[in-house]
Amino acid sequence: MSLDAVLARIDSDLPAATERLLELLRIPSISTDPAFKADCDTAADWLVKDLQSLGVEAAKHPTPGHPMVMGHIAGDGPHLLFYGHYDVQPVDPLKLWDRDPFDPQVEDTPKGPVIRGRGAADDKGQLMTFVEACRAWKAVNGALPCAITFFFEGEEESGSPSLIPFMEEHKDALKADLALICDTGLFDSRVPAITTMLRGLLGEELTITGPSKDLHSGMYGGAARNPIRVLSKIIASLHDDTGRITVPGFYDGVPEISDELRAQWDGLNFDHGAFLGDVGLSQLAGEEGRSALEMLWSRPTCEVNGISGGYEGDGFKTVLPSKASAKISFRLVGDQDPFAIRESFRKMVTDMLPPDCSVEFHDHGASKAGQFDTSDPAFEAARQALSDEWPDPAAYIGCGGSIPIAGHFVNITGTTPMLIGFGKDDDQIHSPNEKYDMESFHKGIRSWARVLDALT
Ligand code: BES
Ligand code: ZN
Repeated sequence: MSLDAVLARIDSDLPAATERLLELLRIPSISTDPAFKADCDTAADWLVKDLQSLGVEAAKHPTPGHPMVMGHIAGDGPHLLFYGHYDVQPVDPLKLWDRDPFDPQVEDTPKGPVIRGRGAADDKGQLMTFVEACRAWKAVNGALPCAITFFFEGEEESGSPSLIPFMEEHKDALKADLALICDTGLFDSRVPAITTMLRGLLGEELTITGPSKDLHSGMYGGAARNPIRVLSKIIASLHDDTGRITVPGFYDGVPEISDELRAQWDGLNFDHGAFLGDVGLSQLAGEEGRSALEMLWSRPTCEVNGISGGYEGDGFKTVLPSKASAKISFRLVGDQDPFAIRESFRKMVTDMLPPDCSVEFHDHGASKAGQFDTSDPAFEAARQALSDEWPDPAAYIGCGGSIPIAGHFVNITGTTPMLIGFGKDDDQIHSPNEKYDMESFHKGIRSWARVLDALT
């Protein structure tokens, strides 16, 4: 039976597949930093070549930002599209890495071997998980099981500025029966998952200016307005004592989950003690009266991601700064409107400004939450295929993160997204020492082969 032969091929080719992934991980394709522009281009070239080695007609498509990679191979049966991103997050703070983030290696750990390096899990490892399944399929059967379009982006980690125009322009080429997205996680190491809910994201940066220049805090302190104090008061007022967000109208469009979904999530027996314990915490810190999974998957948030102002260097300086700034992100759910929230947030901040202060806002993107239709029988088929590979049956889950392209597939090409991924909570994506478990890579490749088999 050809699936068994493909699975055997995946097992025997794992060392070579790992070498290929390490090669891709060596390319420092940090999309947000212009210093790495050429590297993003190199990563796109690497992927074009790799797809071509599978017989896929692939090309690099320039955009005003980093290039897209598109490839297509004809075949019978359903037309699948596969999306992944080849760009990675910056590596800062570099001193917290135990090794060079772009000199990846396979490391033995008490929990098993891991592939360590920037992008190992998010998203190069996950992208190659799908490509390797195709490679094994082709090696065994001489052809892929159906028509597949490959679509790799190089700007996902920096807000995807070129994505919507590109998708509009290549609408026909990107239309498929199903869009497979490999950028999410397992529920846990035993339970694979199809993610059906993603939170949206609104990014806002604000800079408050008080005095026209930095001042001596002894000469002026007490009499002059300090913008860090103004900013701190504004930030402190964004939540009430029960953890609710105070921006007017913020909860418009936030639904309560259905009893059915609540029961399904309760059935997952999520161990929030272990989840928090892994990162040195013990108590939930979200809205009162909500379960941990609700807080992560179905409730909106407002978080301060960065704050700066005054003297941040070593030592001490008695300064009363001219400016203070913060980067704030809102995770959105249900039908919350990012643009209405942006306006309301800006008005709230502006209304709170005391005399002699001004504020400037900088927009860092806005995307709505997504809830995806699972009525297509392909979902149950894929769920069964995943259940065949992992110890426990696959679950439909939510995700606290944001993958705006999932919504673009629905709105621009009318294609249903199916989000399957093999990351784990402790992969440290976006952080120092990112890793992808060898188990995720190996069983992930096997899972994709099973899913391809089930869908075709
Ligand atoms: N792969 C992540 C999304 C993700 C996060 C999936 C956590 C599963 C668990 C993706 O690359 C990402 O980081 N997205 C950004 C949003 C983007 C618009 C910058 C995010 O969620 O912060
Ligand atoms: Zn990602």
